[in-house]
Amino acid sequence: MSLQNFVDSLDGLLNEAKQSLDSVASSEHLEELRVKFVGAKNGAIKAVQKLMGAIESEHRPAAGKRFNEVRDAIQSALESASERLGGGSQKISNEQLVDPTLPGIRPVLGQLHPITQTIEHLKDIMGRLGFSITEGPEIEDTWHNFMALNIPEDHPARDPLDNFYLATASKQMHNPTDRDAMLLRSQTSTVQIRVMETQPLPLRIISLGRVYRPDAPDATHFPMFHQMEGLWVDKNVTMAQLKSVLRLFATSYLGSDVKVRFRPSFFPFTEPSVEVDYWWNNNWIEFGGAGMVDPNVFQALGIDSEKWSGFAFGLGVERLCMRRFGIVDIRDLYRSDVRFLRQFAS
Ligand code: DAH
Repeated sequence: MSLQNFVDSLDGLLNEAKQSLDSVASSEHLEELRVKFVGAKNGAIKAVQKLMGAIESEHRPAAGKRFNEVRDAIQSALESASERLGGGSQKISNEQLVDPTLPGIRPVLGQLHPITQTIEHLKDIMGRLGFSITEGPEIEDTWHNFMALNIPEDHPARDPLDNFYLATASKQMHNPTDRDAMLLRSQTSTVQIRVMETQPLPLRIISLGRVYRPDAPDATHFPMFHQMEGLWVDKNVTMAQLKSVLRLFATSYLGSDVKVRFRPSFFPFTEPSVEVDYWWNNNWIEFGGAGMVDPNVFQALGIDSEKWSGFAFGLGVERLCMRRFGIVDIRDLYRSDVRFLRQFAS
């Protein structure tokens, strides 16, 4: 091939490229032209480059020089066309990615754990009955967990095997009969003592929180669970009021057709004491204990039991939650499996 023919092809290509790029009006078309002229595989400039091999070697440097000029000229014509259309090639392809007609991507929203939902619900009901909310520590001493609650030293509930006694910085091993031996609280009744120690009478409080007992987990036991404790101290508080409050609570939470029964029982910190059951699936299910505050408890706190009376109750939050949501295995609540928990949307 002669140098002249080669240069003619180059000029023809440059003219064609300039003409089409001068009139290009859309970024899609521009992209087509880019592929047509300088595309890495089948671009026209590539085809012309191949012709260079057929030029006599003495003319090859001149051919190469002209080739480079034409290639650069086409490249800069492409760039100015792209700028004229409003941006670089990066912008063109980003714009192509946005399709406003596609449906949006729904964000995954979190939700409250069923136990948290239950706690909020219980607080709401008891708040309407005039109870205010208090909290107490989960790490307790023997005084608040047992002694002030009239639970004697030899009571089975104080057995080290039935409690999580703790080693502390000051003591490796506690004697569980010491007033300041520390443990994870085994009941929320501790909060009764804490409020009567610090708040003026009369009082009407509930406290909701975690308690701990070294039980082997099964469908109805877990080493950590929640209780709702209630305490009402005033002048002339009666057992009839206790029963009314628990009935009102049960119908608000479980429905107006719920059947509730009170069974005589024994707790060291109440006298008389009852166990509270509701009827479910042809069974009486116990959901807590209650009673009139034992005078020994008032006495331990320096409260005159001739002047003041009170009732207390402690209910199992998991039981209430499981009945409401139809959950049959307590362990499901604490496996942290979102596929299970997501079923109980708030
Ligand atoms: N603390 C008891 C328990 O964990 C429950 C209980 C019974 C709480 C009677 C009370 C009460 O306040 O009066 O088994």
